Amino acid sequence: MGNFSEEINRRRTFAIISHPDAGKTTLTEKLLLFGGAIHIAGAVKSNKIKKTATSDWMEIEKQRGISVATSVMGFEYEGYKINILDTPGHQDFAEDTYRTLTAVDSVIIVVDVAKGVEMQTRKLMEVCRMRKTPVIIFVNKLDREGRDPFDILDELESELKIAVRPLSWPINIGQRFKGVYNIYEKNLNLYTPSKQVVTESVEFKDINNPELENYIGQGDAEKLRADLELISGVYPEFEKDEYLKGNLAPVFFGSALNNFGVKELLDCFVEIAPSPKPINALEREVKPDEEKFTGFVFKIHANMDPNHRSCIAFVKVCSGKFVRNENYKHVRSGKMMRFSSPTAFMAQKKSVVDEAYPGDIVGLPDTGNFKIGDTLTQGEELHFKGLPSFSPEMFKYIENNDPMKTKQLNKGIDQLMDEGVAQSFISQYNNRRIIGTVGQLQFEVIQYRLLHEYGAQCKWDAISLYKACWIECDDEAVLENFKKRKHQYMAKDREGRDVFMADSSYVLQMAQTDFPKIKFHFTSEF
Ligand code: G4P
Repeated sequence: MGNFSEEINRRRTFAIISHPDAGKTTLTEKLLLFGGAIHIAGAVKSNKIKKTATSDWMEIEKQRGISVATSVMGFEYEGYKINILDTPGHQDFAEDTYRTLTAVDSVIIVVDVAKGVEMQTRKLMEVCRMRKTPVIIFVNKLDREGRDPFDILDELESELKIAVRPLSWPINIGQRFKGVYNIYEKNLNLYTPSKQVVTESVEFKDINNPELENYIGQGDAEKLRADLELISGVYPEFEKDEYLKGNLAPVFFGSALNNFGVKELLDCFVEIAPSPKPINALEREVKPDEEKFTGFVFKIHANMDPNHRSCIAFVKVCSGKFVRNENYKHVRSGKMMRFSSPTAFMAQKKSVVDEAYPGDIVGLPDTGNFKIGDTLTQGEELHFKGLPSFSPEMFKYIENNDPMKTKQLNKGIDQLMDEGVAQSFISQYNNRRIIGTVGQLQFEVIQYRLLHEYGAQCKWDAISLYKACWIECDDEAVLENFKKRKHQYMAKDREGRDVFMADSSYVLQMAQTDFPKIKFHFTSEF
C-alpha cells in the first residue's frame, strides 16, 4: 500500500479559471512547458471561442472539439503528477465549468492586473466558496500598465470575498516593470522580457541589504522595502491551513506571456496545494486511499460526428485504483460494465491506460449509458453528491415541429439533458416543456443536435422568465398553499422536484417575503 498512498499524495488535480482574456490559456501553456509536456510556446491551442463566432455555433463546436484534447492535461513535475482540468472560456458554457470544479481539489484564478476582478471570475469564485475549494490567485500582465497592486488586493478581497495574502510582490509595472520579490522563498526575480527563457532568481534573504539598489535602483528598492513592510503589517503570516480550508488565497504576480513569475507559482502550488481529498457520497465519506475503486462522471463530451453518436464520459477517480478491463458497477442502472479502452490524458495526447489513481481523470467511450453525476464502484451502492445543477438564466418553450418524430424528439431531449447540455422543466400550469440554459448558444446547439443526431425537429417559443429556483419547506401545508397560490409559476424538474419560475425579480422577492417559511434554492442540491 506504500506505493499506493505515495501515488495519491503526489497528485495535484486542479483547474485554472478566469474571465476570458485574462491569460488562462497562456498560463496553462507555460505550466506545460515547465512540466516538459510541450517544448515550444504556442503549442496549446486555445479553446477560447472567438467573439466573432457567437452567431456561428458550428464554428464554436469545431473549436470546442479541440477542447476534448485539452480537457485534461496531465504532466509530471518534480515528482508530482499534475492534472490540469480545462474549462471552457465562453460564458455560455459556464455550466460545464461549474461541473468541472466539482472534480478538482484546488483552483488557480488568473486576474488581469489592468482589469481586476471581472464578472466571470466572480461567478466561478462563488462555486469555489460554496465547495470550500482552496484557491491561489495569479495576477497577470504585469508587463503592461495596470492598477496599483494594493488596490488589486483590496478588490480581490472584497469582490471574491476571501482573505488574501501576497506571496510575491511586483517591482513597478508596465514599461518600468523590473521583476518580483518572492516573499515565500525570499528571493528576487529580475524581469527580462522573453516568451521562452525562464528567468533566474537571486537569493535575497535580507531585503535591507544595500545590494538591492544595484539590482533595481534606489527608487524601486526603497519602494519595495516600504511595500513589504506594509504587507507584513497589514496581512497576517501565510497559513497553509487557512488556504486549505478555502479561507485564504495566496497571491502571486507575474506575466504569463513572458513566462515570468510562473515557476514561483508552480513551485509553491505543488508544495501547498492539496492532494485528492475524501469525497462525500450520500451514504458515507469515501477516502482516496480505500482499496476499492470508486469514481463519478463529471462531464460528458459528445462526438460531433453525426454518424457515430458516441461520447466520452470523464470520470474522476475518487478512491482505489481504476484498472482497464475490470468489471465495475454502474450504480444508477445496476449494470456491470467493462472498459477496454479507457483513455488518460498526458500533455495533449490521449492514450489508452491500464490503470489510474485517485485524482486522475479517465475518459470512457460511451454510447449513451452515462449521465452526469453517475457513480462507478466495485459493487457498493454509492452516490456521489456535489454535482448540482445551477439555476438557469435563459428559458424557452420547446415544441415539436415534426409530429411524426415525437419519440425521437423526446429521446434526444432526454439524452442531451443527461449530458448536461441544459435543464428541462415541465410547467404545472400549461404542461409545456421549458428548456433552461445559461447561455443563448445552448438553444442553437440543442436544435442542431436534435436534428442531426436524432432526426427530430424542434422549434422555440419565447417565454419571459427571470429565474428558476428549487423550493423546499418543512411545513407541508405551507408548501401546498404556496404551490396553489403560485400555480402559474410552478414547474417540475426531471426528478419531479418543485421549481418556482419567477418571471421577474419582483415576483421572486414578493414570494420570498410572503412565504418566509419556504426555502428558495439556486442550485439543485441543498
Ligand atoms: P484566456 O485563455 O484567459 O482567454 O486568455 P489568453 O491566454 O488567450 O490570453 C489573452 C490575451 O492576453 C492573449 O493575447 C495573450 O497573448 C495575452 N496575454 C496573456 N498573458 C499576458 C501577459 O503576461 N502580458 C501580456 N502583455 N499579454 C498577455 P491576444 O492578442 O488576444 O491573443 P494572441 O494573438 O496573442 O494569441
